[in-house]
Amino acid sequence: MLDDVKAALTHLRRGDLRAAAAELELGTRAQAVRARAREAVRRTWMRYALRGVRQNDAHDRLDLAYAVPDPWHMASDRERHRFAETNRVIAERLAPRVGSLLEIGCGEGHQSEVLARLCDDLTGLDVSATAIARARRRLPGATFVAGDLFAQPWAHDRGRFELVTACEVIYYMSDRRRFLDTIDALGRACLVTYFAPAAKKVEAECLAMPGAQRTTFRHEDTEGVAVWWKGATAR
Ligand SMILES: C[S@@+](CC[C@H](N)C(=O)[O-])C[C@H]1O[C@@H](n2cnc3c(N)ncnc32)[C@H](O)[C@@H]1O
Repeated sequence: MLDDVKAALTHLRRGDLRAAAAELELGTRAQAVRARAREAVRRTWMRYALRGVRQNDAHDRLDLAYAVPDPWHMASDRERHRFAETNRVIAERLAPRVGSLLEIGCGEGHQSEVLARLCDDLTGLDVSATAIARARRRLPGATFVAGDLFAQPWAHDRGRFELVTACEVIYYMSDRRRFLDTIDALGRACLVTYFAPAAKKVEAECLAMPGAQRTTFRHEDTEGVAVWWKGATAR
């Protein structure tokens, strides 16, 4: 470090500010400080926005979360790994490619981008209108709908989608039984994912679906769970 400072001072004496900054890696350091500050703001905001959000359909608070970009940190390595693992489970356990896919709780469309690689038509649904507006910009070729599943005119169409996914969303619902029964009728196959610590809250109902199968995937110290089954019209 001392050598770097000496070298920077030499550059400064010569009037070469740019070389002095490069010597001290000021650009890289400033970038790292900005990234840490952004992450601190995101965490603080999420603590505030998600206050009172439990399994209680708190749709307004969930929309509020999107006042910051990427509130769930979906651009992180951990989430990118989960997206890849989810696609792998679909391709290996359900079908290498699907026609129509309904993604419930699609947020800003980070996972939609990855799911779109294995389907022909993707429909994303989220209760946050702010998130849906961003998802539309991210993936203009897909269809995105803002609102609750039960409010959709097609919510009770049997076998309408080849695959229905609900990734990291089931935690926020008050009536999981009704939700699971609805997607069971709507999709010819269904897949739900959640982080392992939430299993005690949500797993029993997911595994109660007829023919449900389960697998896990891990990224560093985080374990994810995927549960899938054939929908009512395909059994
Ligand atoms: C943790 S984020 C997951 C985003 C995305 N599924 C993923 O895994 O990358 C949860 C998302 O579910 C949405 N959500 C919560 N309850 C919902 C519901 N009843 N219907 C649709 N979306 C819902 C939230 O607005 C939020 O965008």
